[in-house]
Amino acid sequence: MNTRAPVLDVDALLGDRHTRILVCCGSGGVGKTTTAAALALRAAERGRRVVVLTIDPARRLAQSLGLTELDNVPRLVTGLADDAVPGGRLDAMMLDMKRTFDEVVLAHATPETAEQILDNPFYQAVSSSFAGTQEYMAMEKLGQLRATADREGSWDLIVVDTPPSRSALDFLDAPKRLGSFLDGRFIRLISAPARAGGRAGLKFLNVGIGLVAKTLTTVLGGEMLRDVQTFVNALDTMFGGFRERADLTYALLKDGGTAFVVVAAPERDALREASYFVARLARDGMPLAGVVVNRLQPQPVSGLSAARAREAADELAAADRPAGAGALALHAALSDLAARHRNLVRRFTAGHPGIPVTEVPALSQDVHDVEGLRAVGTALAGRPVASPRSGWAPISSR
Ligand SMILES: Nc1ncnc2c1ncn2[C@@H]1O[C@H](COP(=O)(O)OP(=O)(O)OP(=O)(O)O)[C@@H](O)[C@H]1O
Ligand SMILES: [Mg+2]
Repeated sequence: MNTRAPVLDVDALLGDRHTRILVCCGSGGVGKTTTAAALALRAAERGRRVVVLTIDPARRLAQSLGLTELDNVPRLVTGLADDAVPGGRLDAMMLDMKRTFDEVVLAHATPETAEQILDNPFYQAVSSSFAGTQEYMAMEKLGQLRATADREGSWDLIVVDTPPSRSALDFLDAPKRLGSFLDGRFIRLISAPARAGGRAGLKFLNVGIGLVAKTLTTVLGGEMLRDVQTFVNALDTMFGGFRERADLTYALLKDGGTAFVVVAAPERDALREASYFVARLARDGMPLAGVVVNRLQPQPVSGLSAARAREAADELAAADRPAGAGALALHAALSDLAARHRNLVRRFTAGHPGIPVTEVPALSQDVHDVEGLRAVGTALAGRPVASPRSGWAPISSR
Protein backbone atom coordinates (compact mmCIF):
# COMPACT_ATOMS: atom_id res chain seq x y z
CA MET A 1 0.00 0.00 0.00
CA ASN A 2 1.25 3.46 -0.78
CA THR A 3 1.37 5.33 2.50
CA ARG A 4 3.12 8.45 1.32
CA ALA A 5 1.07 11.48 2.20
CA PRO A 6 1.03 14.52 -0.04
CA VAL A 7 3.29 17.21 1.33
CA LEU A 8 1.72 20.26 2.95
CA ASP A 9 3.19 23.09 0.90
CA VAL A 10 3.42 25.73 3.61
CA ASP A 11 4.98 28.38 1.38
CA ALA A 12 2.21 28.01 -1.18
CA LEU A 13 -0.34 28.30 1.61
CA LEU A 14 1.30 31.41 3.07
CA GLY A 15 1.88 32.91 -0.35
CA ASP A 16 -1.73 32.50 -1.43
CA ARG A 17 -3.35 35.90 -0.96
CA HIS A 18 -6.70 34.18 -0.62
CA THR A 19 -5.52 32.72 2.66
CA ARG A 20 -6.74 35.29 5.18
CA ILE A 21 -7.06 33.24 8.36
CA LEU A 22 -4.99 30.32 9.58
CA VAL A 23 -6.12 28.46 12.70
CA CYS A 24 -3.64 26.21 14.50
CA CYS A 25 -5.41 23.45 16.42
CA GLY A 26 -4.29 20.35 18.24
CA SER A 27 -4.30 18.71 21.63
CA GLY A 28 -2.40 20.06 24.63
CA GLY A 29 1.31 20.73 24.42
CA VAL A 30 1.90 19.60 20.83
CA GLY A 31 3.26 22.94 19.60
CA LYS A 32 0.23 24.99 18.53
CA THR A 33 1.58 28.27 19.85
CA THR A 34 5.02 27.62 18.37
CA THR A 35 3.55 26.66 15.00
CA ALA A 36 1.21 29.66 14.91
CA ALA A 37 4.04 32.07 15.68
CA ALA A 38 6.42 30.37 13.24
CA LEU A 39 3.87 30.44 10.41
CA ALA A 40 3.13 34.09 11.12
CA LEU A 41 6.82 35.03 11.09
CA ARG A 42 7.49 33.14 7.89
CA ALA A 43 4.49 34.74 6.18
CA ALA A 44 5.61 38.19 7.30
CA GLU A 45 9.14 37.61 6.05
CA ARG A 46 7.64 36.55 2.73
CA GLY A 47 5.90 39.86 2.38
CA ARG A 48 2.54 39.46 4.06
CA ARG A 49 1.06 41.76 6.65
CA VAL A 50 0.33 39.40 9.48
CA VAL A 51 -1.13 39.47 12.96
CA VAL A 52 -0.78 36.45 15.20
CA LEU A 53 -3.10 35.88 18.13
CA THR A 54 -1.29 33.74 20.69
CA ILE A 55 -2.82 32.17 23.74
CA ASP A 56 -0.74 31.73 26.87
CA PRO A 57 2.62 31.78 25.12
CA ALA A 58 5.58 30.75 27.24
CA ARG A 59 7.08 33.77 28.95
CA ARG A 60 10.33 33.82 27.06
CA LEU A 61 8.60 33.51 23.74
CA ALA A 62 6.22 36.32 24.65
CA GLN A 63 9.13 38.50 25.68
CA SER A 64 11.03 37.92 22.49
CA LEU A 65 7.93 38.89 20.52
CA GLY A 66 7.77 42.10 22.53
CA LEU A 67 4.62 41.03 24.35
CA THR A 68 5.37 42.42 27.75
CA GLU A 69 2.32 44.61 28.14
CA LEU A 70 -0.94 42.85 28.73
CA ASP A 71 -3.13 45.30 26.88
CA ASN A 72 -5.02 42.91 24.65
CA VAL A 73 -3.99 44.64 21.41
CA PRO A 74 -1.46 43.64 18.74
CA ARG A 75 2.12 44.92 19.01
CA LEU A 76 4.63 45.25 16.20
CA VAL A 77 7.30 42.55 16.29
CA THR A 78 10.79 43.76 15.43
CA GLY A 79 13.60 41.58 14.21
CA LEU A 80 12.32 40.41 10.85
CA ALA A 81 15.16 39.08 8.69
CA ASP A 82 17.26 41.60 6.77
CA ASP A 83 16.50 39.80 3.53
CA ALA A 84 12.76 39.61 4.21
CA VAL A 85 10.47 40.47 1.31
CA PRO A 86 9.67 44.20 1.56
CA GLY A 87 6.16 45.14 2.61
CA GLY A 88 5.77 42.38 5.14
CA ARG A 89 5.10 43.05 8.80
CA LEU A 90 4.27 41.08 11.89
CA ASP A 91 2.12 42.10 14.80
CA ALA A 92 1.59 39.80 17.73
CA MET A 93 -0.73 39.76 20.68
CA MET A 94 -1.67 37.46 23.48
CA LEU A 95 -5.26 36.94 24.37
CA ASP A 96 -6.50 38.49 27.57
CA MET A 97 -9.65 36.53 28.11
CA LYS A 98 -11.20 38.70 30.81
CA ARG A 99 -10.57 41.91 28.94
CA THR A 100 -12.00 40.48 25.75
CA PHE A 101 -15.16 39.49 27.60
CA ASP A 102 -15.37 43.04 28.95
CA GLU A 103 -15.02 44.39 25.42
CA VAL A 104 -17.95 42.25 24.29
CA VAL A 105 -20.10 43.60 27.09
CA LEU A 106 -19.06 47.17 26.35
CA ALA A 107 -19.82 46.73 22.66
CA HIS A 108 -23.29 45.33 23.32
CA ALA A 109 -24.73 47.24 26.22
CA THR A 110 -25.43 50.87 26.99
CA PRO A 111 -22.65 52.42 29.09
CA GLU A 112 -24.56 52.24 32.33
CA THR A 113 -25.73 48.67 31.79
CA ALA A 114 -22.19 47.72 30.85
CA GLU A 115 -20.94 49.20 34.07
CA GLN A 116 -23.55 47.26 36.03
CA ILE A 117 -22.47 44.04 34.41
CA LEU A 118 -18.74 44.61 34.69
CA ASP A 119 -19.02 45.45 38.39
CA ASN A 120 -21.08 42.39 39.14
CA PRO A 121 -19.23 39.70 41.13
CA PHE A 122 -21.20 36.99 39.39
CA TYR A 123 -20.03 38.27 36.02
CA GLN A 124 -16.48 38.57 37.27
CA ALA A 125 -16.48 34.94 38.35
CA VAL A 126 -18.16 33.62 35.22
CA SER A 127 -16.15 35.69 32.78
CA SER A 128 -12.84 34.31 33.88
CA SER A 129 -13.52 30.78 34.93
CA PHE A 130 -16.32 29.25 32.93
CA ALA A 131 -15.03 26.33 30.92
CA GLY A 132 -14.96 27.38 27.32
CA THR A 133 -14.58 31.08 27.97
CA GLN A 134 -11.08 31.04 26.57
CA GLU A 135 -12.18 29.34 23.36
CA TYR A 136 -15.12 31.69 23.02
CA MET A 137 -12.95 34.73 23.59
CA ALA A 138 -10.32 33.51 21.12
CA MET A 139 -13.04 33.42 18.48
CA GLU A 140 -14.37 36.75 19.62
CA LYS A 141 -10.89 38.26 19.28
CA LEU A 142 -10.51 36.68 15.86
CA GLY A 143 -13.75 38.35 14.83
CA GLN A 144 -12.49 41.70 16.11
CA LEU A 145 -9.14 41.37 14.35
CA ARG A 146 -10.84 40.44 11.13
CA ALA A 147 -13.14 43.45 11.40
CA THR A 148 -10.14 45.72 11.98
CA ALA A 149 -8.28 44.14 9.07
CA ASP A 150 -11.28 44.68 6.78
CA ARG A 151 -11.86 48.21 7.96
CA GLU A 152 -8.30 49.48 8.04
CA GLY A 153 -6.54 47.12 5.67
CA SER A 154 -3.90 46.65 8.32
CA TRP A 155 -3.40 42.90 7.92
CA ASP A 156 -3.94 40.49 5.09
CA LEU A 157 -3.37 37.39 7.20
CA ILE A 158 -4.50 36.49 10.71
CA VAL A 159 -2.89 33.49 12.36
CA VAL A 160 -4.75 32.12 15.36
CA ASP A 161 -3.41 29.92 18.11
CA THR A 162 -5.95 27.93 20.13
CA PRO A 163 -6.24 27.39 23.89
CA PRO A 164 -4.44 24.56 25.65
CA SER A 165 -7.43 22.29 25.93
CA ARG A 166 -7.20 18.55 26.32
CA SER A 167 -9.14 18.03 23.13
CA ALA A 168 -8.66 20.01 19.97
CA LEU A 169 -12.40 19.79 19.40
CA ASP A 170 -13.05 22.05 22.37
CA PHE A 171 -12.11 25.00 20.25
CA LEU A 172 -15.01 24.30 17.91
CA ASP A 173 -17.48 23.20 20.56
CA ALA A 174 -16.93 25.58 23.43
CA PRO A 175 -18.25 28.77 21.82
CA LYS A 176 -21.56 27.14 20.96
CA ARG A 177 -21.85 25.77 24.46
CA LEU A 178 -20.99 29.07 26.04
CA GLY A 179 -23.25 30.86 23.59
CA SER A 180 -26.26 28.82 24.60
CA PHE A 181 -25.29 29.17 28.23
CA LEU A 182 -25.35 32.91 27.96
CA ASP A 183 -28.33 33.30 25.72
CA GLY A 184 -31.99 33.65 26.60
CA ARG A 185 -32.70 30.20 27.90
CA PHE A 186 -30.07 30.40 30.57
CA ILE A 187 -31.23 33.81 31.57
CA ARG A 188 -34.82 32.67 31.87
CA LEU A 189 -33.80 29.57 33.74
CA ILE A 190 -32.00 31.39 36.46
CA SER A 191 -34.03 34.56 36.60
CA ALA A 192 -37.47 32.98 37.01
CA PRO A 193 -36.78 31.22 40.31
CA ALA A 194 -34.63 34.10 41.41
CA ARG A 195 -37.61 36.36 41.10
CA ALA A 196 -39.68 33.93 43.12
CA GLY A 197 -36.93 34.13 45.69
CA GLY A 198 -36.61 32.11 48.85
CA ARG A 199 -35.06 28.74 49.48
CA ALA A 200 -36.88 26.95 46.70
CA GLY A 201 -35.55 29.48 44.27
CA LEU A 202 -32.04 29.03 45.48
CA LYS A 203 -32.31 25.27 45.21
CA PHE A 204 -33.52 25.46 41.65
CA LEU A 205 -30.88 27.99 40.90
CA ASN A 206 -28.25 25.57 42.07
CA VAL A 207 -29.50 22.96 39.67
CA GLY A 208 -29.77 25.41 36.81
CA ILE A 209 -26.24 26.57 37.07
CA GLY A 210 -24.72 23.29 38.09
CA LEU A 211 -22.57 23.90 35.04
CA VAL A 212 -20.63 26.53 36.89
CA ALA A 213 -21.04 25.04 40.31
CA LYS A 214 -17.38 25.29 41.12
CA THR A 215 -17.22 28.93 40.32
CA LEU A 216 -20.39 29.66 42.13
CA THR A 217 -19.41 28.09 45.40
CA THR A 218 -16.95 30.90 45.73
CA VAL A 219 -19.62 33.46 44.98
CA LEU A 220 -22.55 31.86 46.77
CA GLY A 221 -23.12 34.06 49.72
CA GLY A 222 -25.75 36.42 50.96
CA GLU A 223 -25.13 38.63 47.97
CA MET A 224 -25.56 35.84 45.49
CA LEU A 225 -29.18 36.21 44.53
CA ARG A 226 -29.02 39.94 44.25
CA ASP A 227 -25.90 39.74 42.11
CA VAL A 228 -27.39 37.20 39.79
CA GLN A 229 -30.55 39.22 39.49
CA THR A 230 -28.67 42.37 38.59
CA PHE A 231 -26.50 40.44 36.19
CA VAL A 232 -29.48 38.83 34.56
CA ASN A 233 -31.41 42.05 34.25
CA ALA A 234 -28.44 43.75 32.69
CA LEU A 235 -27.72 40.85 30.40
CA ASP A 236 -31.35 40.89 29.36
CA THR A 237 -30.58 43.93 27.26
CA MET A 238 -27.97 41.98 25.34
CA PHE A 239 -30.30 39.05 24.82
CA GLY A 240 -29.10 36.68 22.16
CA GLY A 241 -26.12 38.83 21.32
CA PHE A 242 -23.64 36.30 22.51
CA ARG A 243 -25.10 33.47 20.52
CA GLU A 244 -25.29 35.60 17.41
CA ARG A 245 -21.68 36.63 17.70
CA ALA A 246 -20.52 33.08 18.26
CA ASP A 247 -22.46 32.06 15.16
CA LEU A 248 -20.93 34.86 13.10
CA THR A 249 -17.39 33.94 14.01
CA TYR A 250 -18.18 30.30 13.47
CA ALA A 251 -19.26 31.20 9.97
CA LEU A 252 -15.95 32.98 9.46
CA LEU A 253 -14.22 29.67 10.12
CA LYS A 254 -16.05 28.13 7.18
CA ASP A 255 -15.03 30.97 4.94
CA GLY A 256 -13.02 30.19 1.83
CA GLY A 257 -10.16 32.32 3.10
CA THR A 258 -9.80 30.26 6.27
CA ALA A 259 -7.59 27.22 6.60
CA PHE A 260 -6.99 24.94 9.56
CA VAL A 261 -3.60 23.59 10.41
CA VAL A 262 -3.80 20.62 12.74
CA VAL A 263 -0.72 20.18 14.88
CA ALA A 264 0.16 16.82 16.38
CA ALA A 265 3.05 15.24 18.19
CA PRO A 266 4.35 11.88 16.96
CA GLU A 267 2.46 10.13 19.75
CA ARG A 268 -0.50 7.83 19.62
CA ASP A 269 -2.88 10.08 21.57
CA ALA A 270 -1.99 13.29 19.77
CA LEU A 271 -2.36 11.61 16.39
CA ARG A 272 -5.69 10.09 17.38
CA GLU A 273 -6.85 13.52 18.48
CA ALA A 274 -5.69 14.89 15.13
CA SER A 275 -7.75 12.21 13.38
CA TYR A 276 -10.89 13.22 15.26
CA PHE A 277 -10.27 16.82 14.40
CA VAL A 278 -9.69 16.17 10.73
CA ALA A 279 -12.94 14.18 10.57
CA ARG A 280 -14.81 16.92 12.36
CA LEU A 281 -13.55 19.62 10.01
CA ALA A 282 -14.70 17.58 7.06
CA ARG A 283 -18.12 17.08 8.64
CA ASP A 284 -18.53 20.78 9.38
CA GLY A 285 -17.30 21.84 5.97
CA MET A 286 -14.27 23.62 7.39
CA PRO A 287 -11.19 23.79 5.21
CA LEU A 288 -8.18 21.77 6.35
CA ALA A 289 -4.82 22.88 5.00
CA GLY A 290 -2.98 19.93 6.45
CA VAL A 291 -1.34 18.33 9.43
CA VAL A 292 1.92 19.30 11.10
CA VAL A 293 3.72 16.52 12.90
CA ASN A 294 5.92 18.39 15.33
CA ARG A 295 8.97 17.35 17.33
CA LEU A 296 9.76 14.38 15.21
CA GLN A 297 13.01 12.60 16.00
CA PRO A 298 15.07 12.57 12.80
CA GLN A 299 16.81 9.34 11.90
CA PRO A 300 20.47 9.70 12.95
CA VAL A 301 22.50 10.18 9.79
CA SER A 302 25.24 7.62 10.30
CA GLY A 303 24.83 4.23 8.69
CA LEU A 304 24.95 2.53 12.06
CA SER A 305 21.80 0.59 12.92
CA ALA A 306 20.31 0.75 16.40
CA ALA A 307 21.04 -2.94 16.98
CA ARG A 308 24.65 -2.62 15.88
CA ALA A 309 25.14 0.52 18.00
CA ARG A 310 23.78 -1.28 21.04
CA GLU A 311 26.10 -4.22 20.48
CA ALA A 312 29.08 -1.92 20.10
CA ALA A 313 28.00 -0.01 23.22
CA ASP A 314 27.98 -3.27 25.18
CA GLU A 315 31.42 -4.17 23.84
CA LEU A 316 32.84 -0.79 24.84
CA ALA A 317 31.22 -0.97 28.26
CA ALA A 318 32.75 -4.41 28.78
CA ALA A 319 36.11 -2.96 27.71
CA ASP A 320 35.66 -0.24 30.35
CA ARG A 321 35.23 2.62 27.90
CA PRO A 322 32.03 4.23 29.26
CA ALA A 323 32.22 7.47 27.25
CA GLY A 324 32.09 5.80 23.85
CA ALA A 325 29.52 3.35 25.17
CA GLY A 326 27.27 6.22 26.25
CA ALA A 327 27.38 7.89 22.84
CA LEU A 328 26.56 4.63 21.10
CA ALA A 329 23.72 3.88 23.50
CA LEU A 330 22.28 7.36 22.83
CA HIS A 331 22.60 6.75 19.12
CA ALA A 332 20.70 3.47 19.53
CA ALA A 333 17.97 5.10 21.61
CA LEU A 334 17.49 7.96 19.14
CA SER A 335 17.41 5.53 16.21
CA ASP A 336 14.71 3.54 17.95
CA LEU A 337 12.73 6.68 18.74
CA ALA A 338 13.06 7.88 15.16
CA ALA A 339 11.81 4.53 13.89
CA ARG A 340 8.88 4.63 16.29
CA HIS A 341 7.95 8.16 15.20
CA ARG A 342 8.22 7.20 11.54
CA ASN A 343 5.92 4.25 12.13
CA LEU A 344 3.30 6.33 13.88
CA VAL A 345 3.33 8.91 11.09
CA ARG A 346 3.12 6.17 8.47
CA ARG A 347 0.10 4.69 10.20
CA PHE A 348 -1.56 8.08 10.42
CA THR A 349 -1.01 8.90 6.76
CA ALA A 350 -2.22 5.46 5.73
CA GLY A 351 -5.43 6.14 7.62
CA HIS A 352 -5.80 9.57 6.03
CA PRO A 353 -4.70 9.29 2.45
CA GLY A 354 -4.76 12.59 0.66
CA ILE A 355 -4.28 14.77 3.72
CA PRO A 356 -1.16 16.91 3.29
CA VAL A 357 1.42 16.52 6.02
CA THR A 358 4.56 18.37 6.95
CA GLU A 359 7.07 17.42 9.61
CA VAL A 360 9.10 19.50 12.04
CA PRO A 361 12.05 17.90 13.78
CA ALA A 362 12.57 18.11 17.50
CA LEU A 363 15.03 20.94 17.86
CA SER A 364 17.87 20.87 20.32
CA GLN A 365 16.28 23.53 22.53
CA ASP A 366 12.91 25.07 23.31
CA VAL A 367 11.66 27.60 20.79
CA HIS A 368 11.71 30.89 22.61
CA ASP A 369 12.92 33.56 20.21
CA VAL A 370 12.52 34.86 16.68
CA GLU A 371 15.46 32.84 15.46
CA GLY A 372 13.96 29.65 16.84
CA LEU A 373 10.62 30.46 15.24
CA ARG A 374 12.40 31.03 11.94
CA ALA A 375 13.99 27.59 12.24
CA VAL A 376 10.57 26.01 12.85
CA GLY A 377 9.19 27.95 9.88
CA THR A 378 11.98 26.64 7.69
CA ALA A 379 11.16 23.10 8.76
CA LEU A 380 7.43 23.66 8.25
CA ALA A 381 8.21 24.64 4.68
CA GLY A 382 10.00 21.35 4.22
CA ARG A 383 13.49 22.79 4.12
CA PRO A 384 16.40 21.42 6.09
CA VAL A 385 17.09 23.11 9.41
CA ALA A 386 20.80 22.73 9.80
CA SER A 387 22.41 25.74 11.24
CA PRO A 388 24.90 24.46 13.79
CA ARG A 389 26.11 27.99 14.45
CA SER A 390 22.73 29.16 15.66
CA GLY A 391 22.20 26.11 17.81
CA TRP A 392 18.85 25.35 16.24
CA ALA A 393 19.87 22.03 14.80
CA PRO A 394 17.55 19.07 15.08
CA ILE A 395 18.38 16.76 17.98
CA SER A 396 20.88 14.22 16.76
CA SER A 397 23.45 11.93 18.28
CA ARG A 398 26.32 13.36 16.34
N1 LIG B 1 10.01 21.41 17.12
C1 LIG B 1 10.30 21.72 18.38
N2 LIG B 1 11.53 21.49 18.88
C2 LIG B 1 11.83 21.79 20.16
N3 LIG B 1 10.96 22.33 21.03
C3 LIG B 1 9.71 22.58 20.60
C4 LIG B 1 9.31 22.30 19.25
N4 LIG B 1 8.01 22.66 19.12
C5 LIG B 1 7.63 23.14 20.32
N5 LIG B 1 8.62 23.09 21.21
C6 LIG B 1 8.56 23.47 22.63
O1 LIG B 1 7.57 22.69 23.24
C7 LIG B 1 6.86 23.42 24.23
C8 LIG B 1 5.37 23.38 23.93
O2 LIG B 1 5.12 24.07 22.72
P1 LIG B 1 3.87 25.03 22.55
O3 LIG B 1 3.77 25.95 23.70
O4 LIG B 1 3.93 25.60 21.20
O5 LIG B 1 2.70 23.94 22.62
P2 LIG B 1 1.14 24.21 22.67
O6 LIG B 1 0.47 23.16 21.83
O7 LIG B 1 0.85 25.62 22.34
O8 LIG B 1 0.85 23.93 24.20
P3 LIG B 1 -0.50 24.29 25.01
O9 LIG B 1 -1.49 23.24 24.63
O10 LIG B 1 -0.07 24.23 26.44
O11 LIG B 1 -0.91 25.65 24.57
C9 LIG B 1 7.47 24.83 24.20
O12 LIG B 1 8.41 24.92 25.21
C10 LIG B 1 8.14 24.91 22.84
O13 LIG B 1 9.26 25.78 22.85
MG1 LIG C 1 -0.14 27.07 23.46
